[in-house]
Amino acid sequence: MKYWKNIATDIWEYNDEIRMPAGIWFTIRSIAIRLANGDLWLHSPCNFPNEGLQELKTLGNVRYIVAPNAFHHLYVPKAALDFPEAEVWCAPKVLKKQKDLKNSAILSSEVPWANEILTLPLQGLRMVEESVFFHKKSQSFICTDFVFNVYEFKNLQTKILMTLVGANQKFAQGLEWRLLVKERNLIAQNTAHILGWDFKRIIMAHGRVLETRNIRDQFADTTAWIRKGHEHLLLEK
Ligand SMILES: [Fe+2]
Repeated sequence: MKYWKNIATDIWEYNDEIRMPAGIWFTIRSIAIRLANGDLWLHSPCNFPNEGLQELKTLGNVRYIVAPNAFHHLYVPKAALDFPEAEVWCAPKVLKKQKDLKNSAILSSEVPWANEILTLPLQGLRMVEESVFFHKKSQSFICTDFVFNVYEFKNLQTKILMTLVGANQKFAQGLEWRLLVKERNLIAQNTAHILGWDFKRIIMAHGRVLETRNIRDQFADTTAWIRKGHEHLLLEK
């Protein structure tokens, strides 16, 4: 396989780069998960070249396409055209931004793949509307912008931006999340809920897949500020 790389049981990644305003470049990852019946669940589709699409088709039949937050939707309409049989599931704002997706469903915990991949729409945040996921079979926690793990920068302005948000060459939650919090108790409950998942790997959209022995401690540390004053939530689990 040239484009899709297997990273865990039944999970493949596709890596690309995307240019943002002001010459910022981000690496960006799509993932495909093969469900028990052989169908594929496609998270945050990139602009796949034809050959990448053909490879994806060899992995299974794309049944679900997921636009996991209000910002990761650019190539979802293209994926919907490439896989017309697939259901599209989106963050609510994506439906306003992408008019062609009006037949899509809104992500919630009640999704058809819930037996295999848990879905948690993060609450208490402004703008971002991110849903995060737990793939039970591979014990993978899947998120989009919620954490970064970026070590390679294409240019100086990208490195400067990542330094400013506190995520220069380390596993970290960008400082911008502090501005996104509207109701701390809700997002605190969500992160406590994530820590109840028995994950051994974090797959995020930007940066290296993280797989370390103390991974849940690392996630707990980087999100501890969210639960400050709400630490009892962990004890209640
Ligand atoms: Fe992103």
